[in-house]
Amino acid sequence: MIADSVLCLSLERNFSDAQRYELFYSIGRKLQPDFPINDRGRYLLADKDFRGYFEKFLGSGNWKNFERRWNLAQMLRMLPPIAGDLAECGVFEGASAYQLCRFASEHGRRVHLFDSFQGLSVPKENDGAYWTEGGLSASEEKVRANLKEFHCFETFPGWIPKAFTKVADRRYAFVHIDVDLEQPTFDSIAFFYPRVSRGGVMLLDDHGYDTCPGARKAALDFMADKPEPVIDLSTGQGLIIKT
Ligand SMILES: C[S@@+](CC[C@H](N)C(=O)[O-])C[C@H]1O[C@@H](n2cnc3c(N)ncnc32)[C@H](O)[C@@H]1O
Repeated sequence: MIADSVLCLSLERNFSDAQRYELFYSIGRKLQPDFPINDRGRYLLADKDFRGYFEKFLGSGNWKNFERRWNLAQMLRMLPPIAGDLAECGVFEGASAYQLCRFASEHGRRVHLFDSFQGLSVPKENDGAYWTEGGLSASEEKVRANLKEFHCFETFPGWIPKAFTKVADRRYAFVHIDVDLEQPTFDSIAFFYPRVSRGGVMLLDDHGYDTCPGARKAALDFMADKPEPVIDLSTGQGLIIKT
């Protein structure tokens, strides 16, 4: 209701975009003084192609992962010279898988999609209290429907890491890991790390979120004796570039 009144005021007074942003910024700073709000005028906000993709999967109106999705799109641009296929652990309805498929279909790669299609496995002690077993469940049919324009992907329904056995002999250029919990994150990194080509990328969607302490611990534990750092991106993603 307060937000509606502020909007009315800005319309009545015929505020410019810049004035509306300053209003948003000053209200945001009051409510969340320690939350950094990005500057306006960045090109990513005006990228029509990316926006078209993003809005296709908006569903519940969740704009919160706009920049994570943007980063994913940008990481894919590094891949043409890197050998190997693409994989995703944790697919949900296929929104990020769509980005992988789009790249793969344009560059003659395959995409391997791993999900229980029954939601999250059982959270353990290190996962905190945010997640519940069976949360974020979407059917394989729904994913197939969302990716129907592509022929470059295979789904591997089942629990991680059991579902990986069928791709043990493959190499990868890019692996997106987004399973929220410690054990499947650890198992995913442990399986794919030795199979990622030099220069290839592992992008960890949950790494920097206090809702996913187990996923962060899993990555840091596994990578502790490896040469590559896990880069903390400002979006909360973790980035590993294989050396
Ligand atoms: C956050 S969602 C993935 C979101 C998706 N990457 C996107 O950006 O749209 C997490 C997914 O991980 C899957 N998942 C969680 N634990 C799993 C496990 N142990 N084995 C297989 N899938 C799992 C869930 O079924 C869910 O679809």
